[in-house]
Amino acid sequence: MTDSATTRTEREDFQATSDPALLESADRGDATNLLSYQQLYELWERQQWRTQDLDFSQDREDWANFPDDEKFQRMYGLSSFFIGEQKVAEELGPMMRAAPTEEMRIFLCTQIADEARHVAFFNRFYDEVGVLESSNLQDRLVETSAHLNPKFHELFDEMLSSRVDKLARDPGDLETLVEAITLYHMVIEGMLALTGQHFIITYNEDNGTLPGFVEGFNNVARDEHRHVAFGARFLREMAQADTRYAEAIQRTLIESGPAADGVLTPPWYEEGMDLFGVSLEETREFAMKALERRMKVIGLAPVA
Ligand SMILES: [Fe+2]
Ligand SMILES: [Fe+2]
Repeated sequence: MTDSATTRTEREDFQATSDPALLESADRGDATNLLSYQQLYELWERQQWRTQDLDFSQDREDWANFPDDEKFQRMYGLSSFFIGEQKVAEELGPMMRAAPTEEMRIFLCTQIADEARHVAFFNRFYDEVGVLESSNLQDRLVETSAHLNPKFHELFDEMLSSRVDKLARDPGDLETLVEAITLYHMVIEGMLALTGQHFIITYNEDNGTLPGFVEGFNNVARDEHRHVAFGARFLREMAQADTRYAEAIQRTLIESGPAADGVLTPPWYEEGMDLFGVSLEETREFAMKALERRMKVIGLAPVA
């Protein structure tokens, strides 16, 4: 791990989220550090930021100077995040309504606002940096979707959407909520988004590129750690309450494994290629280590 990556995850504001993946105590299955729903809400109040404050002028110059093949490779990560943020923002409403306590619902309301801000962040980056031909949010989402991996649709449009549609019809269906939170907070945010963010930020920091993007993406990552901390607390409580829910978590992780692994792999990937300066194997290991720590805290993985 480079210095910039070590420094980032050790930053006080990142540690403050209590995401088990950032805490060594998680290796022992220690859940005492997890924030309560109320504390997570209060942390959200303290961790506000504005997309309009970011300065993308250097990013625009950097982007114009990237060779075409580098632009093309960077489009996979950018597109997956831009569309991913838009999809999760839209799916969270029914999940919020189905959450069983008021404290959970209040926190999930803050998360909906965060996901909207993440969409606005990407939209502003694309606009200011001149990434695409399109000139509005809807058209940009369509244009950038050409870069996605088909597994992305399987994970978001089939697995996650089907659960969320079910919750919209029956908000009392707690087992489906457990499945949806496993997919959303553990797989999509915890394994995929935070892994991509980690390597993309580190690569840009090491190369001194896209400083406005790096600043905003760090804020997005901090938000995601807070979201995942909510997911870890919720799933731990549910797994302890009933083995049926513990089984639902494990079943959903197994079901989504191949699609999640597919999303980590760009459609143009060839064996042995580096992705943002690291191997696909290293990317997978990072995602699995983060999942393992969270599962230990949830109580569903053996502790050392
Ligand atoms: Fe997000
Ligand atoms: Fe999120």
